[in-house]
Amino acid sequence: MKARVFSGVQPSGNLHIGNYLGALKSWVKIQYDYECIYCIVDLHAITVPQEPAELRKKIRETAALFLASGIDPKHSIVMVQSSVPEHAELSWMLTCVTPVGWLQRMTQFKAKSEAQETVGDGLLQYPVLMAADILLYQAAIVPVGDDQSQHLELTRDVAQRFNSLYGETFVVPETHLPTVGARIMGLDDPEAKMSKSAPGSGHAIALLDPPDVIRKKIMRATTDSKPAVEFGALGAGVQNLLGIFQAFSEWSDDQMQSHFDGMRYGDLKKQVAQMVVEKLAPLQQRYREITEEAGYIDGVLAEGAARVEPIARSTVNLVKQRMGLYTQS
Ligand code: TRP
Repeated sequence: MKARVFSGVQPSGNLHIGNYLGALKSWVKIQYDYECIYCIVDLHAITVPQEPAELRKKIRETAALFLASGIDPKHSIVMVQSSVPEHAELSWMLTCVTPVGWLQRMTQFKAKSEAQETVGDGLLQYPVLMAADILLYQAAIVPVGDDQSQHLELTRDVAQRFNSLYGETFVVPETHLPTVGARIMGLDDPEAKMSKSAPGSGHAIALLDPPDVIRKKIMRATTDSKPAVEFGALGAGVQNLLGIFQAFSEWSDDQMQSHFDGMRYGDLKKQVAQMVVEKLAPLQQRYREITEEAGYIDGVLAEGAARVEPIARSTVNLVKQRMGLYTQS
């Protein structure tokens, strides 16, 4: 039997090339080697205030981008978290075995709660819900970026704690996948990971940005005071541009070096922009086709939910039995 993979993305904004090169592209690559469940985590999104109409739109947009990136819904499961009620159900049960101190220590909780006027309890529970997402499907592998490794460690701790309190119940998931994606930094600030929420139009390249916007953003990207690429001493901005080119082109290190060493920054940027435009074109084309077909996305999401429902139900029933909750036998 193939090992099960689970991963999730928040429907909180325009997915960008950092999401694609860091996650989606490898999700697509591994989809026939594992049994993959890719989830749009709308219950996580509401841990901070959301505009309902926007959220509703972004959920479908995110699903369409998954498919446009090459996730094959005939094979992989694409689903929305809130359409399978067991995520919330299991989350409560896990909340009851999670020490609150573990949650208060999470760096993302500290960072996100500082930015809120009123901190909803959901923000504290966020990692427990993420543990529920993963443990619900007994996923063995969870491909996520390093910004999520603390949450994944907590998932493992919660699974182990539950298993020791109530007997072997959950698979303890692995943090890493053999193939790791590229880490793409902000164009305006190459010290910070490219992010959906960073302000400023020069920060990220959205997957649906038209060619002229892509070119403009890359031409304006931060480099350094040198005139040309010097492989012995790459600044963070130039390294990031080269990283974007290499991740899209899949060129070897040698190829990269012999092609780009000594190239002036202006030419480097033109070539990076051209590569990004070319590689995103088929994705954007598929996105248009997918979204033009009325009801297609909803159909895929309904099928995804139906496919995972029996797995989710059986885990929750097992947990109820283990904990002594009421079940009809
Ligand atoms: N917290 C993750 C993020 O913001 C999203 C997420 C929710 C997730 N549940 C998950 C990722 C389960 C992997 C597995 O990126």
